[in-house]
Formats: sequence, structure tokens, C-alpha cells
Amino acid sequence: MADTKTKSRAGAKQKSEPFSEQDFGGFSRSQVAMVLTNPNLDDNPIVYANEAFVRTTGYAHSAIVGRNCRFLQGEDTDKAAVDVLRHAIELDQNVTVDILNYKANGAPFMNRLVVSPIVDSQGKTEYFIGIQKELRNGERDPSAEKVHDHLMEVQNRVQSDLSMIITMIRNQSAATSVPDDFAALKRRVETLELLYEEMKLADRHANRDTVQMGSFVSRLASAIAHTEGRPGIRMNMQIEPLEVSIEVATRVGLVVSELLTNTFQHAFERMETGLVEIRMSQLSAGGLRLIVSDDGIGIPRSMEWPSSATVGGRIVCGLIEGLEGTLHLGRGAAGSFVTIDVPAGASVTE
Ligand SMILES: Cc1cc2nc3c(=O)[nH]c(=O)nc-3n(C[C@H](O)[C@H](O)[C@H](O)COP(=O)(O)O)c2cc1C
Repeated sequence: MADTKTKSRAGAKQKSEPFSEQDFGGFSRSQVAMVLTNPNLDDNPIVYANEAFVRTTGYAHSAIVGRNCRFLQGEDTDKAAVDVLRHAIELDQNVTVDILNYKANGAPFMNRLVVSPIVDSQGKTEYFIGIQKELRNGERDPSAEKVHDHLMEVQNRVQSDLSMIITMIRNQSAATSVPDDFAALKRRVETLELLYEEMKLADRHANRDTVQMGSFVSRLASAIAHTEGRPGIRMNMQIEPLEVSIEVATRVGLVVSELLTNTFQHAFERMETGLVEIRMSQLSAGGLRLIVSDDGIGIPRSMEWPSSATVGGRIVCGLIEGLEGTLHLGRGAAGSFVTIDVPAGASVTE
């Protein structure tokens, strides 16, 4: 029933065609430079850097990941600022400094840097997040509070959203440590970045508390298809324009990210062609229904799904539980379909 209703809705977005570079730009380009470092590895190396960091510094990804951030410092960098950073990082504390850094071409720039620990539920620091903003002349003035406010807002949100993901992985896992899966970490952070962009758009329309979920999910699905898709695999989207709270958007967005990635990676093994469909519609009583389906090889009946043995499976279960939602796996004549219902006014629980 949901199908016919969705198709006839004005404003629903539809797309069904193979992907090409021209269609989708992948994960879009955030304005704020950001890195994640892992203090549990030797010398706290960078494990993730976003596009804005690459643009700001002029270094390629391959020259960034694996190094400690001090490679940005140089001859005229103030030693006192470095000491402030080292001290705060040793104590797992938040810190903001203006520090002279150098780009790949040698050009110096003043970097307003915010560093914060991302802790799990036991209070152990799993990552540090660093947010960098190149200060132009006028912005060096300490009264340029807008820059600072914006950085702190991004930092707060990333810090709490990533803590939520890490806690979810840990809570439901008997294992004491989950190995770093850089590709998955990158995708989860980029999912959040897309959401923050959508929030910035909402901000512009003076609506701070809700997110255009239809627009966010369309962009997210396109970005994942761009990264994970291959020729012959089509994606069909039927997504209604829906407005939801930021908390619901964060969780549903992360669920979409896990499910779609899983589908692209596993549903079409040894198949030349395939179809992925994603639908999102408003339920009659409010709330939303999300359906991700494929016509691939299907999930064997003997296989537990979502599997608590995988990080993605644990994240999906944790997120849906937090939304007080339901998840149902159906097996079609070909492939499988997953239906997720999120009740109206879902009160997000930790
Ligand atoms: C997440 C994170 C981001 C950082 N970003 C920068 C940066 O952009 N520029 C910089 O000069 N230092 C940055 N640092 C600080 C250096 O990595 C290092 O901690 C600092 O130089 C003090 O340590 P050291 O005395 O061992 O070099 C960052 C640190 C962390 C944890």
C-alpha cells in the first residue's frame, strides 16, 4: 500500500538509473576542516581527514592519514601554543588555540583549532576530534565570535554524535576493542557531515530544530551509491519530503548509511545487474517508514540479521532501539527487504 501512496504523492523524488560520476558528487564538501586522531595508536595519528582539511592545508589524503597533526607546524609556530595543546591532550581535555601552521606549498596561515576527546561510556578516550578554521585578517580579532561559535557548535555535535556511535558499538559488544575499520569510520563521519550541512540549510530558513529528512536521505543515498555502487546496479528512490527532529534525523541517517552500504557490498555478489530501492514515507498516524530492498542473492534463513557479531549490525539495532522503532527483514522471491518504522514524536532514548 505504501508504494502506491508514495508514488502518487506530489513532491516525492524518484530516480532509477545506473550511476555515473556526473550524476552524484559523492559526499559533499563540508566547509569546516576536520580530522579524527586515534590516541590508542602510536603517536596519536590522523585516521580521518575530511575534504575541507585537504583543501585548507593543500596536502593530499595520502600525505595526511597516519601522521600526527604536528606536521602542520613550522619554524615560526609559537612553542607556547604547542605546549598548551600537548598538555590538554595528555589530560584528555577540550582546548582551543590559534596556532601558526603551514600549508603544503609552505604558505603560513593562522589556524583556529578546537581539539576535543571523544569518549566511550566508560570515559575512555577513543578518538580526538580536531576542527580547524583558517583565520583571515579580520577574523583574528578575538571579537570575531561568530567563527568561534560556529566551530564550537560543530565540535559539540560531532563529539556527542560520535560518542553515541562508539558507546553503541561498545555497549552491545562482548569484545573490549573493535578494530579500526577506516572505511566504515569515514562513511559514518561523512553521514554526519551531510546532516550538518542539511542543518545549516535549515538554519538559513530560521528553523533550527528540524531537518528536511527527505532531502537529507536523498543526498545520503546518492553519496553512498556513488561510493559503493558499480555499473549495472541501479538505485530507485521514492522519498517523501518529511521534517523530523535533529535527533531522529541523526539516527535514521546512520541506519540508512549502514543498510545501504551493506546492500551494495553484499547483496549482488557475482551478479552483473541489480536493483536497490529506498523508500521513505510518512505513516498515516505520523512517524515514518523506511524500506530498503534489493533483488540480489538474498540473506540465507540460517543467517542472523542484523548480526550482533558485526559493528554495523550492532549500530543498526542500537539506533532503532533508541528510536523505539521496529525493524523487519522480509525475504522476497529475489533478494530481501528491510522495513523500519519509527513512531511519531519518537522520544530518543540513550
Ligand atoms: C585531533 C587533533 C588535531 C590537531 N590538529 C592540529 C593542527 O591542526 N595544527 C597543529 O599545529 N597541531 C594540531 N594538533 C596538535 C598536535 O598533534 C600535537 O598534539 C601538538 O603538537 C603537541 O604535541 P607534541 O609536543 O608532541 O608535538 C592536533 C592534535 C589533535 C589530537
